Amino acid sequence: MASSTVTQRTLNARTIVESMRVQQPAVARPPGPNGLRSMWSLASGQVPPHEFFSSLRERHQPIVHVPMAGEHLNVLFAPEAIWEVFVTNGRHTRKSLALQMTRPLLGDGLLTADGPTHMRHRRALQPLFHNKRIEGYVADMVGAADASGQRWHGGQLIDLSDAMAELTLDVIGRTVFGLDVRGEASDVATALDTVLAGFARGIGPWSSPLSRIPTARRRREVEAIRELDAIVEEMIASRRRDLAMGFDGKDVLTLMLAARDDDGRSAFTPEEVRDEAMTLVLAGHETTALALTWAWNLLSHNPSERAWLEQELDSLPERPLTAHDLPSLPRTYAVIAEAMRLHPPAWILGRWLDKDLRVSGWDLPRGSVVLASQYAMHRDPRYWPHADAFRPTRWITDGRFDERAPRVPRGVWFPFGFGTRRCIGEHFAWTEAVVVLATLARRWRLEVHAPADPPMMSAITLRPAIPMSTTLTTRA
Ligand code: HEM
Repeated sequence: MASSTVTQRTLNARTIVESMRVQQPAVARPPGPNGLRSMWSLASGQVPPHEFFSSLRERHQPIVHVPMAGEHLNVLFAPEAIWEVFVTNGRHTRKSLALQMTRPLLGDGLLTADGPTHMRHRRALQPLFHNKRIEGYVADMVGAADASGQRWHGGQLIDLSDAMAELTLDVIGRTVFGLDVRGEASDVATALDTVLAGFARGIGPWSSPLSRIPTARRRREVEAIRELDAIVEEMIASRRRDLAMGFDGKDVLTLMLAARDDDGRSAFTPEEVRDEAMTLVLAGHETTALALTWAWNLLSHNPSERAWLEQELDSLPERPLTAHDLPSLPRTYAVIAEAMRLHPPAWILGRWLDKDLRVSGWDLPRGSVVLASQYAMHRDPRYWPHADAFRPTRWITDGRFDERAPRVPRGVWFPFGFGTRRCIGEHFAWTEAVVVLATLARRWRLEVHAPADPPMMSAITLRPAIPMSTTLTTRA
């Protein structure tokens, strides 16, 4: 059964984006940089988006206005204002225009959808992410990490980003989809690189994944989306075949394909199944792969913190990890937290205001875009002592991992977002990152041949902009 095509999804995205371009009244705007100069520095690639938006913090204002390509962007730096928009008034916002641009790939999945569709799908998928279910995934997480480790040998040179993406794709395949997708890992990685580079340019003001101009690069991006479509369609088709033979699983595809409404009809259309599957493939592996990549890189550059972590791992019993071991791994949690503080895989959140809102003393009309950047807030020296330093101990209280230990106000630490749009996979991601790091760092030391703070590419996620070539060493 065919679902939507990339052309249909692009047309749909254009309609949505057009409906969000509303006429705004002439009101006083918060102070901010010159719009043209900002557009030029972004469009010319002089400053990557994450650096551009976090540099606005140096203006010491609660809210900074940037007019860009006909949009009014308002970047928030006051934690209470961030809370006010994203949590208190979350129901009066929609996903921002930049995220709508990902619709040619993600369609109307959980990440992009708003309103009743979002609520219905969130409720349907929630059982996959209950604590008990995630405990049951730990064996698969260990299995995937061990399978990677078994292919490694001492002295080998690997690309760390690729290795982590392959591993987390394997995990999401085994757990959420109940499928072995390792054979597709390298095709997914290549296609995603192309598509995400397109989204990165789309965040800039002059190029958009919804552009009508058929450049060679655009054609390659569309082709890459088609390749990802084919992979996901095959996953769905194979599960349909399983179901026809009486298969009874607890994975996302079974959940959606077998769901029936009150009249006995399929509760989800083929488009809805495809969009959620694509969203979970992308959101469910790329971000965790990045958290792990950044953690390994920081450990490689900070030998005393690495020794501190290894001491914890060396005290574990000599058997594969289980869910019961997780409370004994506060240092591993702290390393992942500190990696996500310095290199948040999701580096910015954007919302489109669906009603006029007064924020930090400024009246923002309906149609304004409000942004809050994890990258800026997680490194803000007002809240974090030694903000640019890798200090995992800041997350430990009385020997336990404690996310509240840094005592920052709410609205400063938000690697997984906020409120009703908070990441559905948060607990899954913590568990996976900790299990994978602990399982591999027990046996391996990784020397990453990249700077501690390498150049980064900020598309939907914050990725290294250079190859993360890495030498593997076995631990005695
Ligand atoms: C370190 C890993 C991860 C990070 C940093 C992360 C971060 C985020 C953030 C910041 C959001 C909110 C986006 C917004 O408000 O615009 C989000 C949403 C989401 N994430 Fe994650 N995520 C991670 C892992 C995962 C995993 C493992 C899954 C699935 C298995 C997942 C699935 C989703 C989905 C479906 C949404 C949309 C939720 C909704 O709006 O209802 N994420 N994630």
